[in-house]
Amino acid sequence: MSRPKVLISRRWPEAVEAALAERYDVTFNTEDRPLDTAAFREALATHDAILPTVTDAMGRAVFDGIEAPRCRVLANYGVGFSHIDTEAAARLGIVVTNTPDVLSDCTADIAMTLLLMAARRAGEGEREVRAGAWTGWRPTHLVGTKVTGKTLGIVGFGRIGQEMARRAHHGFGMRILVQNRSAVAPEVLGACNARQVESLEALMPECDFVSLHCPGGAANRHLVNAARLALMKPGAFLINTARGEVVDEAALAEAVGAGRLGGAGLDVFDGEPAVEARLLDCPNIVVLPHLGSATRETREAMGFRALENLAAALDGRAPPDRVA
Ligand code: DGY
Repeated sequence: MSRPKVLISRRWPEAVEAALAERYDVTFNTEDRPLDTAAFREALATHDAILPTVTDAMGRAVFDGIEAPRCRVLANYGVGFSHIDTEAAARLGIVVTNTPDVLSDCTADIAMTLLLMAARRAGEGEREVRAGAWTGWRPTHLVGTKVTGKTLGIVGFGRIGQEMARRAHHGFGMRILVQNRSAVAPEVLGACNARQVESLEALMPECDFVSLHCPGGAANRHLVNAARLALMKPGAFLINTARGEVVDEAALAEAVGAGRLGGAGLDVFDGEPAVEARLLDCPNIVVLPHLGSATRETREAMGFRALENLAAALDGRAPPDRVA
């Protein structure tokens, strides 16, 4: 019997690629370059499953006009899936899955890294030392902002937001405020002595740091806009490990550049890998190239989780992480 035909859109960790190859007839992307709309449209007709990632724009144009695709499942490698038009996929009977849980720790670690780097001016210091420009210790040199005991606002209290709260509260004695679409269970808030507020308008003015952990996509585009940035405390910091489009980057660069905010830490960008030049002009904005889940352990776990979903969907069982 012929094996299901599966397309992987990028290189995956070796161990997972090997496991996939044992079970399926796999089309690998040996060049590791993002595929375009035409390639995905063709794959819908020629493969039983596609395994995309965050770099794959699978919007309406990929599905428009297609009627009876061979593809039955999009097993996304990653938790966020706003790059996939899930409604269009569902209309064609294509199951969509993601890989939650396995990347929560590492993404929260990167959010905390950015928070500490921005507050303590670690990027500026690193660049200074490497440039040979360090002239020695002095009381006024690269003075930053204390983190311990400050107030952290968390926007989106899913698994990653909760892990961030745990690190900040239990590791750094931070007071935690939460803004989330739905009510968070008292025991979940209680684990970090957190308080849920009703809106971003209520959260922003109270926080020394605000960390974003909500989904991306059209619904949350520019959720953090100029008006909301203006509500933040003078000298406060914004951390984004969610999705670039959640923040109006021009407004953020303006607020940081004008000295109204203390700085920012960004792991994600609208239109990445291109980065808005005005953000790069601000020395107190720390920028990382979307490293949230980038540890060997997590990237393998994401792959095996995608494989579990794929196997279930192709075998006619309910995939554990179906999102559409
Ligand atoms: C995700 O999983 O959505 C990340 O952004 C990629 O690791």
